[in-house]
Amino acid sequence: IARVRTLHLQRAKDAGEKFSMLTSYDTLTAGIFDRAGVDVLLVGDSLGNTVLGHESTLPVTLEHMITFSAAVVRGVQRSLVVVDLPFGSYEESPDQAVRSAVRIMKESGAHAVKIEAGEALAEHVAAVVRAGIPVMGHVGFTPQSEHALGGFRIQGRGEAGEQLLRDARAVQDAGCFAVVLEMVSADAAARVEDELRIPTVGIGAGNVTTGQVLVWQDMLGLRTGKMPRFVKQYAQLAQVADDAVRGYVADVRSGAFPAEEHSYRG
Ligand code: KIV
Ligand code: NA
Repeated sequence: IARVRTLHLQRAKDAGEKFSMLTSYDTLTAGIFDRAGVDVLLVGDSLGNTVLGHESTLPVTLEHMITFSAAVVRGVQRSLVVVDLPFGSYEESPDQAVRSAVRIMKESGAHAVKIEAGEALAEHVAAVVRAGIPVMGHVGFTPQSEHALGGFRIQGRGEAGEQLLRDARAVQDAGCFAVVLEMVSADAAARVEDELRIPTVGIGAGNVTTGQVLVWQDMLGLRTGKMPRFVKQYAQLAQVADDAVRGYVADVRSGAFPAEEHSYRG
């Protein structure tokens, strides 16, 4: 199986084709998603929420990202593995961004990094690119800046569309191979996809972007409760697991498990 490379994502855009991206944080889901044909696996710092149970991505460390990324890399044969630089690992200086990205590449075996950066941190992105590390940008709603942005708000509406475009252009000019557009007006996203040479990857950004990305626990219904508008749930894994575990608890209580076929004799 031929590996997905960053150049294939550019080819998809140039050919008017789409690609899929999904988060993954462990070897087993990475294998399932890889075999199902997901082109890009994102080891997102959303693992702060989905795996570690935090309220935000801010507590996530470089060590967390390296541990979970290495697990994902061990599960894939085809998918391109992209890893988030966590909050606090790249903002100080271009040098700090390079150091953090190098550690991720060296210690996890991942294929690229993603940075929540637009115009303001374009120099940091450029330094990582110069180090030979492919970078995916991330603009629009950037969860690491939740407090600065005033909470979960749709970005790029009206006048703000201009800044969104400047941010996306800045990371393209800094050498990014793609850019995530998170929770932005579909109209603004369509304009960015159209004006940029590199592919955009949408999450809550309409259907004009070259790529789409979702958080796997949302998409497979492992997480329950109120979902953002942009999530489509393709399964209800929490319900499946709840039913199964209730069955297990009942069987243990009644003595129905373990049965003879689960037991050793002699
Ligand atoms: O961390 C993450 O899962 C992400 C995607 C939502 C783009 O950054
Ligand atoms: Na992220």
